[in-house]
Amino acid sequence: MPSFTHLIALLAFVPFIAAAPAASACTGTIASLDDVSAAVKCKTVVINAFTVPAGKTFDLPLLDGTTVTMQGDVKFAVKNWAGPLFQVSGKSITFNGNGHTFDGNGASYWDGQGGNGGVTKPAPMMKIKTSGTYTNVKVLNSPARVYSVSNPAQLTMSKLTIDNSPSTTRTTASPSTRAATSSSRATPASAATVSPFVTVSSITIKNNIIKDNDNALRIKTKASATGSTVSGITFSGNTATGIRKYGVIIDQSYPSTLGTPGTGVKLSGVNFSGSTNSIAVASGAKRVEVNCGSGACTGTWDWSALKVTGGSAGVIKNFSGIKGFTQ
Ligand SMILES: *[C@@H]1O[C@H](CO)[C@@H](O)[C@H](O)[C@H]1NC(C)=O
Ligand SMILES: *[C@@H]1O[C@H](CO)[C@@H](O)[C@H](O)[C@H]1NC(C)=O
Repeated sequence: MPSFTHLIALLAFVPFIAAAPAASACTGTIASLDDVSAAVKCKTVVINAFTVPAGKTFDLPLLDGTTVTMQGDVKFAVKNWAGPLFQVSGKSITFNGNGHTFDGNGASYWDGQGGNGGVTKPAPMMKIKTSGTYTNVKVLNSPARVYSVSNPAQLTMSKLTIDNSPSTTRTTASPSTRAATSSSRATPASAATVSPFVTVSSITIKNNIIKDNDNALRIKTKASATGSTVSGITFSGNTATGIRKYGVIIDQSYPSTLGTPGTGVKLSGVNFSGSTNSIAVASGAKRVEVNCGSGACTGTWDWSALKVTGGSAGVIKNFSGIKGFTQ
């Protein structure tokens, strides 16, 4: 009898326990770095407008299943250090930028050397270590490379804009700066090189000025990757000069360059459209190289807004869907 009573008492508690809200069922609001440690204990996180102090990473180690919504623009104060400026990690994360911006203040770093040269620049600017979805985020004026992605499971990245706009560069670069132009290596490339099972779609790379770099515009995908998709990459209004190796290089053989391509990343909708992309390569450089795995590049690619001059023609391998461009 005592043990029966005990059981009833125990059962009586069960609905109460089930109904109790989890501690993580809260909303964490971030309006400065000081808010982060408390906010990431919640599964709903809101990011308001604020400036990240120089030399600090805005690091979001999220609980699995967290939804993050941006409600304002985030700016990063300037310092020459390794970065990254923003890092987010966690599984099954819904990250919605709502069209808001991460502003890297790139014009303060741009010296025509990109990620090379003697000066350390925060790179990558954005380190994405989540699975789930990451969407509708703008990156403005990155100091050097933009995205690095290492996803623990399937990740879909979409509606991303990377804008390293020339007007910003010209107005904010100091007159004494050696080259008052960007050499951000702002390609979506690293987004497509990582872990298996990544979906990258609807990315616009626009208005970058690339100066004195090895490559101007590059997409590289891992030869060994499987089950991945990269689609809808639009290049618009980018300008490059003094390119030493390749004007445009789309290469499925990473980590080799123009080696044996893999077939595990389906690549489609790589377009040069909208405003003209003008690329001038140096005399020893190749204008355009495309190295697709057999059947891995698909559909029709509109390259009508691509103009590459100088150097010599490269080779377009294993793909015949490029329209509006001949080299
Ligand atoms: C790329 O161009 C092709 C061919 O014109 C078009 O069908 C496709 O919708 C374009 N993709 C994007 C993302 O604009
Ligand atoms: C096409 O891709 C296959 C493997 O995916 C590769 O072995 C072959 O060399 C490629 N063809 C060309 C012309 O590069």
